[in-house]
Amino acid sequence: MLEVSRLTKAHPGGNPLFADLSFRLAAGEYVAIMGESGVGKSTLLNLIAGLEAPDSGTVTVAGQRISGLPDEAASRLRRERLGFIFQAFHILPHLTLLQNVSIPLLLLRRDEPQRAAAMLAAVGLGARLHALPRELSGGELQRVAIARALVHRPALLLADEPTGNLDPVTAQGVLDLLRAEIRANGTTAILVTHSRHAAESADRVLVLSQAGLLPSAP
Ligand SMILES: Nc1ncnc2c1ncn2[C@@H]1O[C@H](COP(=O)(O)OP(=O)(O)OP(=O)(O)O)[C@@H](O)[C@H]1O
Ligand SMILES: [Mg+2]
Repeated sequence: MLEVSRLTKAHPGGNPLFADLSFRLAAGEYVAIMGESGVGKSTLLNLIAGLEAPDSGTVTVAGQRISGLPDEAASRLRRERLGFIFQAFHILPHLTLLQNVSIPLLLLRRDEPQRAAAMLAAVGLGARLHALPRELSGGELQRVAIARALVHRPALLLADEPTGNLDPVTAQGVLDLLRAEIRANGTTAILVTHSRHAAESADRVLVLSQAGLLPSAP
């Protein structure tokens, strides 16, 4: 489902983040990636999504090589296959919560009128469907981003610290929802987190460091 092959990346003026990074995830695999701040976890997710270009190496999603695809084809691949929970949310400020969460379905012309509202209810925002993002707390916005990333049942879910702004009880609810959606839809998923507890809700835990992406010590 996902194949990362010999990926190398350094930001302009920055130190190399990864050199020759390779791994693959089978359909339905759910892994957590931990690692120190600044090590390159968010950059790795951007490279997988084709939002940044690697210096060398390739990323293949569902048999399609995303690195090097023309912009339009990469956008289509993201729209159809990918759910991305960004560390910085990227919720559109002028649309209601329901409109924000409905975007992936509209782009795919999927006619599932109840699905977006159901996802917002699943993250505890069922009573706020018509609220605007500025009326929400940081943790509530994070939950909108989670609902939006799952609404179209993506084949590949990239979740960047999705419980970072949540209290323990709400975080656990989100982790349980992620797991349920991943299992129900056969989603391949990467959960980036600083929380050992959150990481353990995935099937296995990997640690990104200068040495590469390695299984974490139990
Ligand atoms: N667009 C950019 N241009 C230049 N440097 C960048 C850019 N994006 C990230 N970096 C740098 O690359 C390094 C890795 O950043 P990244 O956001 O991938 O780290 P991270 O592992 O996700 O950290 P955190 O746990 O704090 O979210 C950092 O040193 C960061 O300053
Ligand atoms: Mg990050």
